[in-house]
This record gives sequence, C-alpha cells and structure tokens, in this order.
Amino acid sequence: MSELTFTMIKPECVSGKHIGEVIARIEKAGFAIKALRMVHMTRKDAETFYAVHKERPFYGELTEYMSSGPVVAMVLEKENCIKAYREFIGATNPKDAAPGTIRRDFGSSIQFNCVHASDGPDTARAEIKFFFSDRDLVG
Ligand code: CMP
Repeated sequence: MSELTFTMIKPECVSGKHIGEVIARIEKAGFAIKALRMVHMTRKDAETFYAVHKERPFYGELTEYMSSGPVVAMVLEKENCIKAYREFIGATNPKDAAPGTIRRDFGSSIQFNCVHASDGPDTARAEIKFFFSDRDLVG
C-alpha cells in the first residue's frame, strides 16, 4: 500500500552541503517527493516537534541543535514508506547503521545523524501536519 512519511535533512548535513547528494539517493531509492521546504526552526518549534522526547536527557541538546540552522523538510511516498525509509536511512546511531545508508555515510554521531524520519503512521501524520498543509502536497 502506498504510504507517506516525513523526513528532515538535519542542520549539519545542510551546512555540510550534502542536500543534493542526500536527495539524489532518496529519489534513486524510489521515494517520490510530495512536498519540500527549507526552514530554520525556532527553539520553540523544535521543542514542540520533539515534545515526545521531553523527558529524555538529550531533549535540551537535541532541540538546541535542531534550531541551530536550517533543515530541509520533506514528505515522501512509496509502498510501505515508513518502514522502507527507516531501513534505507540506517540505524539512529550512524556507528550502527549499515554500510551504504545515508546515516552511515553522512552522519557522525547519534545527534548528528543526518536525517530525521517518522517512526510510525500516527507520527508521520502529525509530523507532516507540523510542516505542511494539505495543498502543499503535490497530487
Ligand atoms: P531523530 O530521528 O531525529 O529522532 C530523535 C533524535 O534524538 C534522534 O534522531 C537522535 O538524533 C536524537 N537522539 C537519540 N538518542 C540520543 C542521545 N542519546 N543523545 C543525543 N541525541 C539523541
């Protein structure tokens, strides 16, 4: 079944000028881009977006980092997109990510892990809505 997911290219990957390479890999892997925008989140934006991690010890550094520079937010579509995309990007910690995945190739630590991806259908819906309205998604 065709499905949507949400992804963000994180600040270090944007400042490292890897946007083009990361998007090229995403497209070559068969994910269709349905919406895309570049945005510099405020600290409050990042705190709201990552509210699910509020109690975690890394919440402060995560939200500070994610609001430290622009990110590229995208909606992707594919069969079983959420799971397929998580497999495609590799494990959260780039050190554990399989060779050839974008987190392994462009990430350097669990915080600087190149991209964010939704972890399930409810999260995907909420994260897409956080950045995009219905009319931002191409048909
Ligand atoms: P992401 O997919 O954006 O979702 C939550 C993020 O929290 C995750 O990627 C990591 O970048 C970050 N994260 C998870 N665990 C840790 C940790 N132990 N220390 C710092 N950041 C973390």
